[in-house]
Amino acid sequence: MSRTIIVSNRLPTKVQRTDDSLTFQPSEGGLATGLGSIYREDDNVWVGWPGLFVETTEEEEYIAEQLRADSMAPVFLTEAEIRDFYEGFSNSTLWPTFHYFAQYATYEQEHWEAYVAVNEKFCQAVLELAGPDDTIWVHDYQLLLLPEMLRQQRPECTIGFFLHIPFPSHELIRVLPWRAELLRGMLGADLIGFHTFGYMRHFLSAVSQILGIPSLNGQVETPTRTVLVDAFPMGIDYKRYEQTASSETAQQHEQDYREALREARVILSIDRLDYTKGIAQRLRAFELLLQRYPEWREQVSLVMLVVPSRDQVPQYAALKEEIDELVGRINAQYRTISWNPIHYFYRSFPLEELVALYRLAEVALVTPMRDGMNLVAKEFIASKVDQRGVLILSERAGAARELSDAIIINPTDAGQLAEAMHDALVMPEEEQTQRMTAMQALVRQYDVFAWTKLFMDRLAYSKIKQLTMA
Ligand code: UDP
Ligand code: G6P
Repeated sequence: MSRTIIVSNRLPTKVQRTDDSLTFQPSEGGLATGLGSIYREDDNVWVGWPGLFVETTEEEEYIAEQLRADSMAPVFLTEAEIRDFYEGFSNSTLWPTFHYFAQYATYEQEHWEAYVAVNEKFCQAVLELAGPDDTIWVHDYQLLLLPEMLRQQRPECTIGFFLHIPFPSHELIRVLPWRAELLRGMLGADLIGFHTFGYMRHFLSAVSQILGIPSLNGQVETPTRTVLVDAFPMGIDYKRYEQTASSETAQQHEQDYREALREARVILSIDRLDYTKGIAQRLRAFELLLQRYPEWREQVSLVMLVVPSRDQVPQYAALKEEIDELVGRINAQYRTISWNPIHYFYRSFPLEELVALYRLAEVALVTPMRDGMNLVAKEFIASKVDQRGVLILSERAGAARELSDAIIINPTDAGQLAEAMHDALVMPEEEQTQRMTAMQALVRQYDVFAWTKLFMDRLAYSKIKQLTMA
C-alpha cells in the first residue's frame, strides 16, 4: 500500500530536557497543530526534527523508538546545524524576508551552506523510508531545496510541497543571494501549494522574473516537467475544537477563569513570540482604547498568551524585552487594586485551557503584521459553540481572505484598532451571532481534512497529467 511521508522541520511532538529526564509534548505552531490531526491516518509517517539537541546515541535511539510508536521518524540536528540552519538561514534569512521584514534579514554564506547540508540530511532520511509508490509531502520554508534534491534521486517520485508562510513580492525574493537555487528547489515538486492566490501569484512572478520560466494558468513548464501551482487555504480540525469546547474540562476551566477575573470582559490574544504577530502594536492600541474610552477601565482586560519561540534569535529576544516593558508600563499606569488591564502569560497552554480561553473571550485580537494563514483565528471561531464573540483580524493574515465577517483592520493603524475593540465590545448580540455563524459554516466545511484531500487529489491529478503528456 502506498503511504504519505510528511516532511517538515519540526515534528508535531517536541522533546524537552527537564532535569535529567526527557519529556514529550505537543509542538506549537500552525503547521504542527494543523497537520497533527491527519498524519496518523493510514500508514503515514512524519519525518522531522524533535526540537532539541541530543548528545548521545543512546538518547537518539530512545527518542527514535518512542517517536516510531507514534508514526514519527526523527532527524537529529547538531548544535551547529541548529545555530546555522534553524536559527540562521531559516529564521534569520528566510523568515524575515518572506514576512516583509527584510531589514531584519542576514545573508551569511555559512548559514546558506548549513541550509543546503540539512536539506540533504532530510533528503537521505526520507529516501531511507520512502518506497517507490509513496507520496512525499514536504512542508515549509526550512525545506525549500528538498523537493529538487528528492527529484534528483527519484525522478519518478510523487512530491508535493506546501508553504505555510506568505510568499512575498518578487522584489523581496530577488534580494536573496540564493534566490535562483531556492526557486529551483521548490520546482522539484509536482504540486506547489500556498494559502492564498496572492502568494501563488507572487511565486509565479518570481519564477518568471528570476528564472525566466513563464507560466500559464498555474502551470510552470520547466525544461523537464510541468509543475502545478495552486492555492489551498489551510483549515483546522474543527470538530476537535468544537468538541473540546463542549467538554466538561474546558467549561470548568472557563468557570475558574471567570471567577478569577470577576466581572471584567475579556479580549484575548494568542501567538508565538514573533515580530510578525504585531504584539507590541496591539499593546499600544489597547492602551489607546483605555485612553480614548475611560469607561472601559476596570471593565475590560486583555488576556495575552505569548508562547516562547526561537529565543536564541536576537530579534526575538529583543521583542520579548519590549513586550515585558510595555505590559509593565501599561499595567502600572492603569491597574487598580481589583483590576489588571493586561494578564500576560509567557508560556504554552494545553488544549483544554486554550479552548477555555477561547470560550471565555468576547473578543479575539488576531493582528499580525504578516501571517501566512493564522490558525488561532479559526480555532477561536470553532470554539464559540454559543455563536457569540467577535474576531478582530488583520488584513495581512491569510485568514482574512476567507473570514470577511471578522472586523478587518490594518494592524499598523493603532487608532483603527482601538476603535475596532470598542466596536466589538458594543456589538449587538444579534450581529455577533450573524457574523459568527457565517464564519463557522466556512471554517467547518473547509477543515484540515478537506484541505488535505484537496491537496492530495490535485497532487494525484498532476501525476496523471504528466504521465499522459509523456
Ligand atoms: N498554540 C499551542 N499552545 C499554546 C498557544 C498556541 O499549541 O499555548 C497553537 C495554537 O492553538 C495554534 C498554533 O499554536 O494552532 C499557532 O498557529 P498559527 O497559525 O496561529 O501561527 P504560527 O505559530 O503557525 O505562526
Ligand atoms: C510557523 C512555521 C512552522 C513552524 C512554526 C513554529 O508555523 O510555519 O514551520 O514550525 O511556526 O516555529 P518553530 O521555529 O518553533 O518550528
